[in-house]
Amino acid sequence: AALVGRRARSWWRWARVVGVVGQFEEDCATPVWKLRQVVDAMVVEMHAGLASDGGSKLKMLLTFVDTLPDGNEDGVYYALDLGGTSCRVLKVQLGGGGSRIINHKVEQQQLPEELVSRTSGEFFDFIALTLKEFIEREENGQVPGSKKELGFTFSFPIRQLSVSSGVLIKWTKGFTSEDVVGKDVSQCLEEAMSKNGLHMQVAALVNDPVGTLAVGHYDDADTVAAVMIGSGTNACYVERSDAIIKYQGLLTDSGFMIVNMEWGNFWSSHLPRTSYDIALDDESPNRNDQGYEKMISGMYLGEIVRRVLCRIAEVSDIFGDPAHHLSVPFILRTPLMAAMHEDVSPDLREVGRILQESLQTSGLSLKAKMIVVRVCDTVTRRAARLAAAGIIGILKKIGRDGRTKGKPRRTVVAIERGLYTNYSMFRVYLNEAITDILGEEIAQNIVIRVSEDGAGIGAALLAAACSSKR
Ligand code: GLC
Repeated sequence: AALVGRRARSWWRWARVVGVVGQFEEDCATPVWKLRQVVDAMVVEMHAGLASDGGSKLKMLLTFVDTLPDGNEDGVYYALDLGGTSCRVLKVQLGGGGSRIINHKVEQQQLPEELVSRTSGEFFDFIALTLKEFIEREENGQVPGSKKELGFTFSFPIRQLSVSSGVLIKWTKGFTSEDVVGKDVSQCLEEAMSKNGLHMQVAALVNDPVGTLAVGHYDDADTVAAVMIGSGTNACYVERSDAIIKYQGLLTDSGFMIVNMEWGNFWSSHLPRTSYDIALDDESPNRNDQGYEKMISGMYLGEIVRRVLCRIAEVSDIFGDPAHHLSVPFILRTPLMAAMHEDVSPDLREVGRILQESLQTSGLSLKAKMIVVRVCDTVTRRAARLAAAGIIGILKKIGRDGRTKGKPRRTVVAIERGLYTNYSMFRVYLNEAITDILGEEIAQNIVIRVSEDGAGIGAALLAAACSSKR
């Protein structure tokens, strides 16, 4: 009788686990017809965002980048790339005369966790000093005496006033330094630099995908858009200036301008949203914002998995002792999630090790580890497929999705940041979804090209291009 009782308890326990996971999978489903709805919703929102400010959750911000580097830029330029979790400083040497970038050097510094909520002064002092120390090392102790031009990649939504200045609209990705909102970030950086004895001026202020697109286009002229998928996610693309209705007065000579979509804030009722996404959003500092980003980007994927595992731990004891750390928000970072998802050992050793070391779970059965991998797979697959739908949305908007008359044209989308480059399952799912949505024949013309350090190098290139125009 005891054995029968144990078996029945075990059966019920697994039935509850499978119930939670099955429901989650159903809520996350992204069949092709749903992805096509997301594509169309993206196109509609792009039109609305271009028609008027506030016309859509997609901000469709003007960048004032209306010419792209052509290879004639030359000289040594520095750039500062401020992302979600790190700050990179770069030195880029340009050859001029149609030649390519001769070489570049990058150094990366993790942003201290407390910096996300510091005052504007402390925030900009930190990054100005990081840059100054790098330049001093590169220039053997000398810092530029006369005003030297800098490319500044600022990976947050900015309302640009010109190609070299812009005010922070709001923070994303967990940043909360309130007194920066509404300020011109180029001016803040210039003040901090000069206070710290570094006399440079921001010649190009760019949002990160804009830098990636500038380099992407420089390397391959068929590049029409750039997508970032890292801690946050965003995209930009080359738009005809007459299509930017809300800025009709600002027609450019070149006839185009790069538009920063801020697609992390895209929203549509067609997005497959679960109770876990809703709870994550409710507890975030930017509730009701960045809904698409919260389903796709690295800052959130591990956290969604943690929330589902936490629910499983509530209905069963498959994660052992309840002293585990599953209830600690953001403890399961996305790189760990990727490592578990990609564990190919037959006994899922890596999954066991990560869960034990990071989450203090104990004595996990193989079946329990398989459940964890299944949850990671569901979260990543949904993210990658939604990102793919976003990319096709852009291509559709600009008539590059192979549905317009004539021969389909080769179209390149530059993509950058860790989630795509370091997480192979994410990459596989994204590319698979592009084929699912467009069909094999058309998808062959779409090239997703990985870019490395493009966000920063592009800012240096644009700084060079802008200073040569002056
Ligand atoms: C967030 C920011 C956006 C940035 C993206 C990727 O979505 O709002 O400006 O481009 O992260 O870093």
